Amino acid sequence: MKPADLPCSAHPLVTLRHLERDDARAWYAYLADPVVVEHTSWDLRSIDDLQSNFDDYASARPASPMRLAVVLRDGGQLVGTIGLNAISLQHRTAEIAYDLSPVVWGKGVATSVVNSVVGWGFQRLGLLRIQATVLESNERSIRVLERCHFAREGYLRSYRQIRGKSGNFWLYACIAGMS
Ligand SMILES: CC(C)(COP(=O)(O)OP(=O)(O)OC[C@H]1O[C@@H](n2cnc3c(N)ncnc32)[C@H](O)[C@@H]1OP(=O)(O)O)[C@@H](O)C(=O)NCCC(=O)NCCS
Repeated sequence: MKPADLPCSAHPLVTLRHLERDDARAWYAYLADPVVVEHTSWDLRSIDDLQSNFDDYASARPASPMRLAVVLRDGGQLVGTIGLNAISLQHRTAEIAYDLSPVVWGKGVATSVVNSVVGWGFQRLGLLRIQATVLESNERSIRVLERCHFAREGYLRSYRQIRGKSGNFWLYACIAGMS
């Protein structure tokens, strides 16, 4: 899904634009860092493993996933991505996903872009519910979600494989008009 208008970033360090295939190298550069993927289900062996993600983002299906690049205002370097998966226009729901390069951790970038994408999803896509699933050990991401007014709804046991091991996740959700 490639909507014509995009969420605006309110953070002074970064802007948002569509993620393009040419971004694969910069994206993979930080996803290859074990510290970045430690509390996620990413299991990339090479940059080629990202290709199926780009195929999905380029799909013309109305509810295909969308992914944005988080880029530095100064110089345009890609330092993160954020997007909506499992978009259902029928049920007005989606799941948010995001990752940042450690070069911008601890500066409020994730909190800011999550708020932007959630607000845009409610206002421009007409969504009513945006959920997130987060590995129980991912304390940084849990803090982001709670700062963005996501409420903890449930515990998903053995929800995803974490590089060969079963992982338990928290289910969070943000409901339009309730934050
Ligand atoms: C999850 C992830 C995006 C969180 O990044 P982050 O840098 O911790 O989050 P933010 O950008 O919102 O920064 C928040 C921190 O910056 C601090 N901060 C500094 N300036 C700030 C500002 N202007 N506004 C808000 N927070 C600010 C906050 O106090 C907070 O610190 P704390 O978490 O120790 O309380 C990042 O760790 C990551 O990409 N991890 C790997 C991928 C991943 O786990 N993705 C999520 C899967 S569910």
